[in-house]
Amino acid sequence: MSSSRAFYVTTPIYYVNDRPHIGHCFTTLVADAVVRFERLLRGGDGATFFLTGTDEHADKVVTSALAHQSTPQAWADQNAAEFRKAFAAMGFSPDDFIRTSEPRHKEKVPRLIELMIARGDVYRGEYTGWYDAGQEEYLTETAAKEASFVSPVTGKPLQKRTEPCWFFRLSKFAAPLQAHLEAHPEFVRPDARRAEVLGRIRAGLNDVPISRPVTDDPATQWGVRMPGDPQSRVYVWIDALFNYLTAVDTPERRPLWPPSVQLLGKDILWFHAVIWPALLMSIGEPLPGTIWSHGWWLAEGRKMSKSLGNFIAIEQLEAYARRYSLDALRWYLLTQGPLGANDADFVHAKFVEAFNADLANGIGNCTSRVGNMIGKYFDGKLPVDAAAAAKASVVPGFDWPALVAGAVAKATAALRACDLQGALAPAGELVRAVDGYINVTQPFKVAKLAPDDPAKRAELAAILANCAEALRVAALLMSPAMPDKMAQVLREWSCVPPAGAPLAELVRLDGSHALRAGTAIAKGAILFQRADPAEPPPTAAGATDRPSS
Ligand code: MSP
Repeated sequence: MSSSRAFYVTTPIYYVNDRPHIGHCFTTLVADAVVRFERLLRGGDGATFFLTGTDEHADKVVTSALAHQSTPQAWADQNAAEFRKAFAAMGFSPDDFIRTSEPRHKEKVPRLIELMIARGDVYRGEYTGWYDAGQEEYLTETAAKEASFVSPVTGKPLQKRTEPCWFFRLSKFAAPLQAHLEAHPEFVRPDARRAEVLGRIRAGLNDVPISRPVTDDPATQWGVRMPGDPQSRVYVWIDALFNYLTAVDTPERRPLWPPSVQLLGKDILWFHAVIWPALLMSIGEPLPGTIWSHGWWLAEGRKMSKSLGNFIAIEQLEAYARRYSLDALRWYLLTQGPLGANDADFVHAKFVEAFNADLANGIGNCTSRVGNMIGKYFDGKLPVDAAAAAKASVVPGFDWPALVAGAVAKATAALRACDLQGALAPAGELVRAVDGYINVTQPFKVAKLAPDDPAKRAELAAILANCAEALRVAALLMSPAMPDKMAQVLREWSCVPPAGAPLAELVRLDGSHALRAGTAIAKGAILFQRADPAEPPPTAAGATDRPSS
């Protein structure tokens, strides 16, 4: 993630035949936290852009619409609205929500394909292959054979099909793609995924079909037509990938191009790490900085699937948010989720464990302890400048300016390396350091001597100011994951950062944002109430089981 130019982050666009579930919410949450972190580092919103949206021209959207006595467009409208609603409920902050059925996208796709035809990278042919209807994807002969001619995803038989077709000359881009991946280790994250992609590119790339025939079947009439060929429509994946470009293809947004980071799950890595950059090479566009592929959520040890009916739906996530707060849910998903190459299990007991350890007993308890002591001993006003306190109270092992600067540097470096969990961890380390410091310095004991001893009173003041300042920075560093709760702390401690100030400015002890003597530190409401591990998982009250596909 480079810091010199605008930061543009994208999520996949989601199929509108599905109801929003944890998978869709997770990819979008990671993007949301990453962009909030970038805004924090850069200061202000101006230099970042966050895009999400819906992928609407899939055949299964037509099937699903017909099954519900609807039209593809009406069905897409209705379900796209569900995604918007779900993303608002998760507290996401996208700058734009693109839908592939919008004119701004539909009109541009044929122009991009014309460009590819003009360059000789798209040609007519005939395709015979094994079609996985559920996935809308062809499998190669070898892959089909390996899968015993049934879909590896849905388990339904593959269909052998021959159709007239337009091809994309992917083979031409094997060498440049390989060179790009070799020269840019950051292009695909994590490394295990990069190795996987490189291995497949080195084994050679075949040209790929990028159109589907239009017939009398209504399912084949939905989608974007190939330029100059009304009998063919653009394959939904090609149509969809271009959204990242069409969304910013306006004079004002063009400087955002190319994306800094593109987030997606491991299941759609091939399209994003191979087909997508090859399309961009063909039309002469610069490539994205990083294709960041995360693992999958499992539900209590099992893969989520339609047949098992064990998808964690948005209603269940909302139930967690109602019971434990939205920010606690975001924190759990981000810190315990499958951000790297491995999968992660959504387990209620683990949720409660992380909730109690990190939040109720962590940042929540620590801010309330410090706020209470400042309330009790100093009438709710910070007794001394944080900068002076750092010099006055020198305790072995607690060099606060160094601890705070170290946490900020570590978080920043981790974010730049696409390690969001690494970027969130230093805040927790700061909180633990504050707890340790309180145990060592024992301010409640110092307080007993303070009334008669000005030196002890100064010591108490310095201890509490050091704690408060470290917690202020911890709250800033946790705010990309927990925007509401951390804003609450900063408000109660009268230190809401001014818009536009970059993090490096905000955390400078000798700068104008460090806590000052006299700052009102309210005791505040309890941030996170300790949860009983024996309590059953919250249930989605009033959840609808409206089938949508
Ligand atoms: N429409 C395509 C993407 C086109 S992008 C040009 C698509 N859509 S999807 O609706 O299936 O959503 C895909 C996203 O949801 C992927 O990032 C995928 O990894 C994520 N998830 C779906 N199930 C998931 C889990 N169980 N766990 C985590 N994320 C998973 O593919």
